Amino acid sequence: MPVASPADIRRRIEKVGDLPTLPLVVSKIVSISNRANSSAEEIGQVIEKDQVLAAKVLKLANSPYYGFPGRIGSVSHAVVILGLNVVKRMTICASVFDMMKSSGMDQLWRHSLAVAMAAHTLATRAGLLHPEEVFVAGLLHDLGEVALYVKAPELVMQVERAMLERDLSRVEAEQEVLSLSHAEVAGWLAEHWSLPTSLKEPMMYHHEPALARDVPRQTAIVHVADVLTKAMGCGASDTQPVTPLSPQAWKLINLDDNALAACIEIAARDFDTIDDFL
Ligand SMILES: [Fe+2]
Ligand SMILES: [Fe+2]
Repeated sequence: MPVASPADIRRRIEKVGDLPTLPLVVSKIVSISNRANSSAEEIGQVIEKDQVLAAKVLKLANSPYYGFPGRIGSVSHAVVILGLNVVKRMTICASVFDMMKSSGMDQLWRHSLAVAMAAHTLATRAGLLHPEEVFVAGLLHDLGEVALYVKAPELVMQVERAMLERDLSRVEAEQEVLSLSHAEVAGWLAEHWSLPTSLKEPMMYHHEPALARDVPRQTAIVHVADVLTKAMGCGASDTQPVTPLSPQAWKLINLDDNALAACIEIAARDFDTIDDFL
């Protein structure tokens, strides 16, 4: 018998007030950069409103690596120097990082970043048009876990107890205790923040990729990256069993064994850099 109805849990989560910077900055940057005619000025204006992010972007653009140390004074100029994709990735990473860090979910942060990196590599190998977007989807895929943890910690404790006592996966335990999963919750958040379908479907269906209608390949990639990342020891918790890989998702990505081996090699290298990130 579930301890609270899915509708009750949804009501609790949708009082999103204290889910930090993610909604505004991320949804604005995602929607601006998805438009064909987006400009550095527009992105700059959004970032300028968040002083911490603005400082990070300026610091990076002024680093000796880009060849203009101490000479970039505006965020818009920094966006031109760094490129839209680097700024978009950095901003979203910083927001998700803050959100997970402030909730004490360091391991989920490492897992999310590992999935984002692996998804980016798989998307590039599979020839997707926008691998950057798949990176972002990877980074956001388990946000439902954060929302549940922040809004209903006592229910998450019951889920984790069920996982340990009966050796269930997180999704199985969530279904049993809550009659919903963190993936469903991530879908509510995506809707609430008006994120595009290209992010919403991978967030909602990363455990059931066959349900994706609009972006099945992106969803399949995030699913495979999630399973791969767990199998490589970068799961959201040490005790969590590796979830099974969907054969349809693997088929949809359409990579041969050599390409997979190359992706695993790149992922292993990327995972080593996670602790230096940010
Ligand atoms: Fe998940
Ligand atoms: Fe995950």
